[in-house]
Amino acid sequence: MSDFNRFYSRLGESLKPGVITQVVLAAFDLIKQGKKIVSLTGGSYDPPSFAIEEIKTIVSEAPVEAWQEMLQYGSNVGSGQLRAQLSRFMAEAEIEADPEGEIIVMTGSQQALDLISRLLIDSGDVIVVGSPTYLQALAAFRQFEPEFSLVPIDEDGMNMDALEEELKRLASEGKTPKLLYTVPSFQNPTSTVLTDDRRLRMLELAEEFDFLILEDNPYGYISYMGPMPKPIKASDKSGRVMYMSTFSKIVSPGLRIGWVAGPKELVTKMAVAKGTVDICTDGMSQYVAAELLRRGVVEKQIQKMIDIYRRKRDLMLEAMETSFPEEAEWSEPKGGLFLWVKMPEGVDTSELLMEAVNSGVAYIPGSNFYTDPSITNYIRLNYSFPSEDDIVEGIRILGDLLKKQI
Ligand SMILES: Cc1ncc(COP(=O)(O)O)c(C=O)c1O
Repeated sequence: MSDFNRFYSRLGESLKPGVITQVVLAAFDLIKQGKKIVSLTGGSYDPPSFAIEEIKTIVSEAPVEAWQEMLQYGSNVGSGQLRAQLSRFMAEAEIEADPEGEIIVMTGSQQALDLISRLLIDSGDVIVVGSPTYLQALAAFRQFEPEFSLVPIDEDGMNMDALEEELKRLASEGKTPKLLYTVPSFQNPTSTVLTDDRRLRMLELAEEFDFLILEDNPYGYISYMGPMPKPIKASDKSGRVMYMSTFSKIVSPGLRIGWVAGPKELVTKMAVAKGTVDICTDGMSQYVAAELLRRGVVEKQIQKMIDIYRRKRDLMLEAMETSFPEEAEWSEPKGGLFLWVKMPEGVDTSELLMEAVNSGVAYIPGSNFYTDPSITNYIRLNYSFPSEDDIVEGIRILGDLLKKQI
């Protein structure tokens, strides 16, 4: 058979490989042919920095009872030990969450975006998102056909005056958003930080206009400017905030450990939804994650990654100063893994991508982070994954290509 179109559901029909998949596949082909391509694309971990020895020790020291638990089906809210450790870990960021009922372990925090979408979104429901925002959050929400309400991200994160205006506009049309999705600390893709004032204002607006907040915090721990910005959830008095985070940027994306802290009723519903998706998160990963937290490895790893990523950020900034055209604009990220570059209007960074890959460098075109495909002049660059040499080489190649676009 070669034509499956008749069989697809509406959702199945909508699932098409995006530009990133296409670029990755093209890059793999070129790499197979022996070509070197510097990847400045995903938010991957610095390969030499994994806590390999610590994880080997944890696994080799595991007692029989632990093995019997990790190799068995587990609870769909996650292992008790891991939830207890996560509760302690979040308490350091002033988030109070009862491990019994208010925390659920996810198979990567991406799963939270999917399950929360299942729980909350019906076709036509209004979801507020920053513009631009994390592309795979948009993809998760899109499965359930919401109406996106867009609020601009400026240098201090989501603009609260614009949010208030948008909420009033929606109210005048008789609409109330169900959910606001935000990455307040070192946002993906812009690396901006929502100011403390704006965080409190967002909570006030959630009360006034009666919506839930989904706070996604994978990057807050990677702060080059002092402690992690205080999560919105830490100031949530009425239980409107669902907080999600992940091991992916601080320990390992391959362990696939994320989590949500939220009101008991919503966490219970998420557990039911998880039952049809994967029943429970992988037992070995959960055991390793709980031990990494218990033994203080996570905290040490965070400190180590901050130093490594700060150095890589500085190197990329320096290389951009030397190689990028004068017309390119960016600001220094105070945390996280990404640099967000604005090119003059008229430059189409999606069109440029294939030429870039053929020249030996890959990046994510900014248009992927907008719902409006006509915004074509941004680039997201990652500095956590490439080696220091590759950062310099990749930026040099990209700089030459960008100069030709002006
Ligand atoms: C903002 C944001 N949320 C969620 C995720 C999903 O991460 P994971 O599923 O690896 O926990 C990512 C991954 O890059 C991200 O950037």
